[in-house]
Amino acid sequence: MEIKLVQSQTEGGQIGLQIFKEALLKGANSFGLATGSTPISIYEAISASNLDFSKTVSINLDEYVGISADHPESYHYFMREHLFGKKPFAHSFVPNGQAADLKSETESYDKIINDHPIDLQLLGLGQNGHIGFNEPGTSFTSKTHIVNLTENTIRANSRFFESEDQVPKQAISMGIASILQAKEILIAAYGQNKAQAVRDFIQGPVTEAVPASVLQKHPNVIVILDPAAASLLK
Ligand code: F6R
Repeated sequence: MEIKLVQSQTEGGQIGLQIFKEALLKGANSFGLATGSTPISIYEAISASNLDFSKTVSINLDEYVGISADHPESYHYFMREHLFGKKPFAHSFVPNGQAADLKSETESYDKIINDHPIDLQLLGLGQNGHIGFNEPGTSFTSKTHIVNLTENTIRANSRFFESEDQVPKQAISMGIASILQAKEILIAAYGQNKAQAVRDFIQGPVTEAVPASVLQKHPNVIVILDPAAASLLK
């Protein structure tokens, strides 16, 4: 793993932009994308750049089950707001959380990943070491699958919804094996609340208890950290 220490998320955005640019120059045509607060500065930098993604595809990691693509909390909506509205791709795949047959949606998503092998996968890191919606305990051999959100996550997410019963109870997520298929992986983490997860995934044992620790086994991983997120590294 190559660690790049930055002083701010804005600087992380510029480093991320360079990594996307180098991938494009090397002929990348499939990009794996994430939502959440971490990638926003990278998406801002890409949006403000002259990079052209119009001949490439993007494949998002995850989506809630049961909310429409127009719901402001959906990941479809997030991606349109933060990236696709400003920087279009030839096609952008995001899991369909409203599919009538969720099992077949997971299978078609794996087919999409196989048909468009991801050249560069962008990831954020959960405080418990999750990547995508793959919580601790998820098998390293998992492909795209349906996740039952924990009570904790549902409660934490309820602040974004009118009431707790409107919070999605499930999500659809690329699996860990799906993520590892990417040729190159860029993971970023900022802030003190990520410090323990950063230490565990980079310097701890490779274990399903810390999903991101599997990245130690991938040959081509870049990690962007700010000083707070890196503060527990030895
Ligand atoms: C988002 C995703 C999640 C986030 C993680 C970190 O598509 O899959 O794994 O990357 O929860 O979230 P932030 O960046 O909001 O701290």
